[in-house]
Amino acid sequence: MAPAKDADLEPENWVMPEVLKPDEKELMETITRSARRNTYDNAKKETKGKRMSAREEGDAAAAEAEKIAADAARRRKKKGGCCGGGADDVVARKKFAKPGDLPGASRGGGGDDGGGDDERVFGAEDDAVLKDPSGGASYKIKKVIGEGGFSRVLLVEALGGHAKAGLFAAKIIPKSHLKLAGDSFIKATMLERDLLAGIAHPFVLGLYHSFQEKDRLVMVVDFCQGGSVHYHVNIAVKATGRGLDEKRSKFYVAEIALGLSQLHLFGIVHRDLKLENVLVKRSGHIAICDFGTSKTLKRTATDGAPDRSSMGDDTPGRRDAGRQPFTRSIIGTPAYMAPEMLLEQPYNYSVDWWALGVAFFTMLRAKLPFDGGRNHEEEKMLWRIVKSRPRYDASWSPDTRAALQYLLQKLPKTRVTSLDQLKQLDLYAGFDWAAVETERARPPFVPALKSKDDMAYVPVKYANAPLPSRADTPYKKGDSMRKLFRDFSHRGAFAKAPSAPF
Ligand SMILES: Nc1ncnc2c1ncn2[C@@H]1O[C@H](COP(=O)(O)OP(=O)(O)O)[C@@H](O)[C@H]1O
Ligand SMILES: [Mg+2]
Repeated sequence: MAPAKDADLEPENWVMPEVLKPDEKELMETITRSARRNTYDNAKKETKGKRMSAREEGDAAAAEAEKIAADAARRRKKKGGCCGGGADDVVARKKFAKPGDLPGASRGGGGDDGGGDDERVFGAEDDAVLKDPSGGASYKIKKVIGEGGFSRVLLVEALGGHAKAGLFAAKIIPKSHLKLAGDSFIKATMLERDLLAGIAHPFVLGLYHSFQEKDRLVMVVDFCQGGSVHYHVNIAVKATGRGLDEKRSKFYVAEIALGLSQLHLFGIVHRDLKLENVLVKRSGHIAICDFGTSKTLKRTATDGAPDRSSMGDDTPGRRDAGRQPFTRSIIGTPAYMAPEMLLEQPYNYSVDWWALGVAFFTMLRAKLPFDGGRNHEEEKMLWRIVKSRPRYDASWSPDTRAALQYLLQKLPKTRVTSLDQLKQLDLYAGFDWAAVETERARPPFVPALKSKDDMAYVPVKYANAPLPSRADTPYKKGDSMRKLFRDFSHRGAFAKAPSAPF
């Protein structure tokens, strides 16, 4: 690839004009409208609002249930009875079934797809255990290690019935949250599970086991004990006042690009690549996680993704078969959104390469390339994404600067949008790609861990957080949607193991 023109340290258009010209005004309208249409963000906010009111409703019901139970107890006492379980008690349980509020309340169950059957299928619930009802395999919950829009990520320990003992990470998503968020989020979660299960690549997180409980979906994956790259950048800032060094950032970018390229090969756009979604494994290699906003596209010969003519049609995103080679939905994290997405243009894999540029810059500088200034003004940030050149650090090598310029090209046409193009950058001249591809390369940083459950790289706010309780997400009639989630279960790793108990 031709060398990039010298980086201009004076960023263009960095300051948004006080008064916009008519064409700039139109542009602002488009990009702010786009940001507001961000489906994922909106659903998160809306669901949170609905969740709070559902919770309030639940709390009121629980208070009433307690009152009825207390009245019943008083009446029994008056009658001289002793051992509970009177008729009134049963009525109270049925009417106000809400796990965690009354003894045996979870038996209230029911739902639109099996009613009391759920009780037989899912069995007794234990707050400290995740349990696959179909195989008996279960996990003890040890700690909270992360949190996202709809999910919580837990450190869990495999209990009996496992081919592989030890610690795992389990992402749990309350079904009630998905129900509030709507159909497209249910579909997206099914796709997330498919993608985790279907892509076997060293730099993409893989699925070990997934299943549904009565009230939650569970995805068990390898525990990436080094935490997220985002966390490492924070550690670096605290220690040195700067982000990660160029060598380490370049290595992470190479591994992320290999993982991305594998996703694109299968027609998958990730759409939420950011430092929080890149995890560091015990070995120091990385894994891309979080396919909650991914989409499968129809592969075509000219879409720019890796050639898969020698492969079959077996794409991992089978549920969302990718009928279009482009998409237009506005989704992801605003600071990482590519100009073409904000400008409402049809886009494909190019948005992930843009996000890689944003991630690379943020790793090095511990600051976003396009931000909203001191007051975090969204308009300012969006303006900068589509109009400004970022402030490159004068201390960075010309090769690093050039690589960033190529990844952060506003037009997908001139951007680096493939692994082959990235490999041709001067930054990667002489880089041993073969060693990296096979995980033989020695990572420039290996997490310092004292034991298998050392939580050194888990943010303290999570590590000290209370374990999830079912009372946090009260189960309501119809939440189970058991039949809808029937295909969610995946036991690939068990099935392959010779000692598998199933
Ligand atoms: N396998 C894992 N090992 C260690 N930490 C994890 C793992 N999976 C997720 N996390 C942590 O949990 C956070 C949220 O997980 P993620 O899958 O991104 O959920 P969401 O879709 O809700 O954003 C991540 O940013 C990361 O810090
Ligand atoms: Mg995430």
